[in-house]
Amino acid sequence: MPNATIDVDREYLLDWYQRNRERSAVLFALVDESAMRSRPIPLRHPFIFYEGHLPVFNHLVLNVRALGEAPIDVTLEKLFERGIDPASIEAAREHERANWPSRERLDVLLRECDERVMHALRDARLVDEKVPSLARGQAAFTILEHEAMHHETLAYIIHELDYANKGRIAQTHYDAPLQPNEMVAVDAGTATLGANRDRSAFGWDNEFDEHEVFVPAFGMQRYPVTNGDWLHFVNDGGPVPPFWCERDGDFLLRGIFEELPLPLSWPVWVSRAHARAYAAWCGKRLPSEAEFHRAAFGTPNGVERPYPWGADAPHPMFGNFDFERFDPEPVDAHPGGASAWEIYDLIGNGWEWTATPFAPFPGFEAMASYPQYSADFFDGRHYVLKGASPVTGRELIRRSFRNWFYDDYRYAFAKFRLVE
Ligand code: AVJ
Ligand code: FE
Repeated sequence: MPNATIDVDREYLLDWYQRNRERSAVLFALVDESAMRSRPIPLRHPFIFYEGHLPVFNHLVLNVRALGEAPIDVTLEKLFERGIDPASIEAAREHERANWPSRERLDVLLRECDERVMHALRDARLVDEKVPSLARGQAAFTILEHEAMHHETLAYIIHELDYANKGRIAQTHYDAPLQPNEMVAVDAGTATLGANRDRSAFGWDNEFDEHEVFVPAFGMQRYPVTNGDWLHFVNDGGPVPPFWCERDGDFLLRGIFEELPLPLSWPVWVSRAHARAYAAWCGKRLPSEAEFHRAAFGTPNGVERPYPWGADAPHPMFGNFDFERFDPEPVDAHPGGASAWEIYDLIGNGWEWTATPFAPFPGFEAMASYPQYSADFFDGRHYVLKGASPVTGRELIRRSFRNWFYDDYRYAFAKFRLVE
């Protein structure tokens, strides 16, 4: 019974819950009330869904399903239970709904959920090895990481909302000349993917089991592909990235709160389909998930490390993540975060697309507190992304964390680099 004695730090969980709720409030406050029922990403629900989804999910997963408490309002809980991920805008039409509750009804529901969840985090038995959804406090971590992930997906949607319909948060921006982006040699060796069930505090189901993969030697670009690199592709007939716009013959970047002269040293954020087109144009390819691990966590002496920079906990010095800003920075901005091979920007500044379809690791088991979390997306049409974006919370930054989107999904803050 290696895990029988694990206890959770209630103060830590409560503090995280409150930080989550405050960040959610900051993000929703950016959206004009008149835009709350709009869907700036047509493949997702309107903002109002997310406002209800977060506390309803928290209450449903922790209080109702894991702790066996009574529901609050079964109809509304059903309405807000789960988001959507249709493959096309036509398919999204089937999910359109008009029956969102009034502002007043929603506010009452949200307060009720928050009160009950905080009460449970303070007093309930959050760890019970005999109850699968409470083993190692799973349900508590599920709701906390879930809300943190939604901060990121909310930022993607806010990014697509017109400037006229949202507030703004001040950021500084800078662009600077770069060294050439050469290929760095990574030796053949072992990559450890996934996490160890008995030694992990929490992981999503798709992170288990831990296993080793042998990776032959390869070369990887020191920096991700930049807007400056992509401009050469556009001048040779390549597509204009969705995060750019054209004004009077000049390309501008659509930043989250303002348009900017195209920052040539920033990573280009594109869909995987666009990244593949660029790779083909260069005669190179995207890295596999295992190659990303080798480049990020492997070392020339064979030891694998928890982060590209070593073992220290994530800190703004190491990369552009945890809401230090919303938009990117130059790809060479964080020498302190480079990997043992001196490959830069592997965690932060945009997720990185891989060549690897999102699929279960050997030993996969759907998690008790959210069985559909990954299983519904093992369809051969979603692909793994690694790393982090500017709006990935530090709590989500770990070696085994896997993100996924459709090949043609163009709204994520996602970059790429080439290998050969
Ligand atoms: C892991 C980011 C792909 O937003 O679709 C949120 C996370 N799952 N609620 C998504 C998620 C359910 C998921 N991603
Ligand atoms: Fe969700």
